[in-house]
Amino acid sequence: MRDGNSSENSIPNVKNLLVDLLTAIEQASSSKEMDELKVHYFGKKGLFTNILKSVGNLDPEKRKELGLEVNDAKKTFEARFSLQLNAIKQNEENEQLAKEWLDVTLPLNIPPQSSGSGSIHPVSIVRKELEDIFLGLGFDVVDGPEVDSEFFNFESLNIPGTHPARDMQDTIWTTKAPYLMRTHTSTNQVRTLLERGAPVRIVAPGRCFRYERLDATHEHTFYQMDGMMVDRKVSVGHLIYFMKTLLRKIYGFEPKIRLRPGYFPFVEPGFELDIWFNNRWLELLPCGLMHPEVLKHGGLDPKEWQGFAFGLGLSRLVMTRFQIDDIRHMQSGDLRFLRQF
Ligand code: DAH
Repeated sequence: MRDGNSSENSIPNVKNLLVDLLTAIEQASSSKEMDELKVHYFGKKGLFTNILKSVGNLDPEKRKELGLEVNDAKKTFEARFSLQLNAIKQNEENEQLAKEWLDVTLPLNIPPQSSGSGSIHPVSIVRKELEDIFLGLGFDVVDGPEVDSEFFNFESLNIPGTHPARDMQDTIWTTKAPYLMRTHTSTNQVRTLLERGAPVRIVAPGRCFRYERLDATHEHTFYQMDGMMVDRKVSVGHLIYFMKTLLRKIYGFEPKIRLRPGYFPFVEPGFELDIWFNNRWLELLPCGLMHPEVLKHGGLDPKEWQGFAFGLGLSRLVMTRFQIDDIRHMQSGDLRFLRQF
């Protein structure tokens, strides 16, 4: 039978081993080191595992004592191990965060829109404002096709095929007669009269197309907002009232306006409406009383019904509103331009 001393010499002292282990845990600074420690002491060939394997050679009393000792050591180890491992992991996470640190308050040199959100096109901004104003005045907003017939674009507006007024608008024709890219949104006057009858008040915003020589004020694609009001006994007085109300809402002050004679085959009398702005007269919008021929095309008796119509140059209005010096910016799709709105 072996005595206690000889057994203590041949088998590593559990307590000493535990002290070594706890010291090693204390000094470990990475989870990798911790894993290695665990294997070194409690792995298949670990120091404590070896002790347990060797208990088979001891007498039962000693075996039990040593077994308990190793178990206690293991419990102490596990408690300390998990504490230290948590601390290390916390440290490692902090280090990782510090490496990936991002100052969200730093000014970016990329505009925020590049993150995916867009901005509203200036034409849409002004169009919506105008639509709101007109809705408040009892007008409906209507939409018509951009490729339209010669009838709605010209004939219904009192511009027959031989009429020299056709030369006022250089037209982009499609290869399928009699269709064309609408040259103005006045196409919606007779279309609306045929669809809705009278009385009626509408505005028709939208894109128009002309075969233009391009420069800072001419573009093949531009925006208009045509409008009309048809009712009994409509006079130039109504026209002036509505146009002044509109301009007061747009500009925010009582507008001083004047009407000059203007020629458009679909109005009689026809006017150019100018506004006094920055100490000079600014040509703003063509308008007039609807020509009897136009009302007739719309199925109305001009003795019973009258109307006024106007053609707001939306692109023009947007340019003065935002001080845009070149109409071509608006169709350019240039993000440097668009991101300013
Ligand atoms: N449609 C015309 C153009 O583009 C503008 C216009 C003039 C519209 C007078 C109207 C109007 O409704 O009454 O040249």
